[in-house]
Amino acid sequence: MTICKTTAVAAESVADRIAAAVAAKPNVVLGLATGGTMEPVYKALVRRSAAGLSFSAVRVFALDEYVGLPPDHPQSYRVYLRERFVDHVGLDPSRFHVPRGDLSAEVAASEYETTLRQHGPVDLQLLGIGRNGHIGFNEPGSPFASRTRLVALTASTRAANARFFAPGHVPRHAITMGIASILEARRLLVFAIGPEKSDAVWAMVMQPPTVDVPASAVRLHASAEIVLDEGAAGQVA
Ligand code: F6R
Repeated sequence: MTICKTTAVAAESVADRIAAAVAAKPNVVLGLATGGTMEPVYKALVRRSAAGLSFSAVRVFALDEYVGLPPDHPQSYRVYLRERFVDHVGLDPSRFHVPRGDLSAEVAASEYETTLRQHGPVDLQLLGIGRNGHIGFNEPGSPFASRTRLVALTASTRAANARFFAPGHVPRHAITMGIASILEARRLLVFAIGPEKSDAVWAMVMQPPTVDVPASAVRLHASAEIVLDEGAAGQVA
């Protein structure tokens, strides 16, 4: 576990790890998360790209996508990743994969698992953590054997994301890579910032793995690293 003094230093340290993976293997397969936590990481990676690091052969799998939004919806995770990262680092669009929230969920989930099998495993999976301990959109209670599937979002997750949507338009469902799909990555990199994540971080690292805290599944992985700022580390430092 790495604890950094500030959020900015922590984000740079996460970006350093991802940049090193890209430098070591130009066609690395990255699994990427969205959300506020990751914004400074993508900013730092765009700077690395401008400084000469090539992302042209990198492949990206997004962890999740809302159901019912067209792919070009400004709050879709496809657009999030394009606007903050993909469109600024010269990534080949055919190497950018996001679950299709506009298809039947069953078709979209099975297509995604097929694409993951075809191009995987993911070399480095970046993960954020929800206040309730979710990873991707695997909410508490998600089986550790779960794969990419349709999930209902909990009230707490919908409340946390409500600021991005017009009232009454917060999505109720998402397609997410499952916990078993996530754990198939060669390496996991969990990044959490801010005191509002400190309870979830405590539950992830201090308790035996339990489906009540989906993030605790990362402890079953042989190569999982956790980077925190001091706020998120408040209860484990
Ligand atoms: C989104 C995702 C989620 C977020 C988590 C934290 O792709 O995987 O698990 O990482 O909800 O979100 P923020 O960073 O907005 O607090």
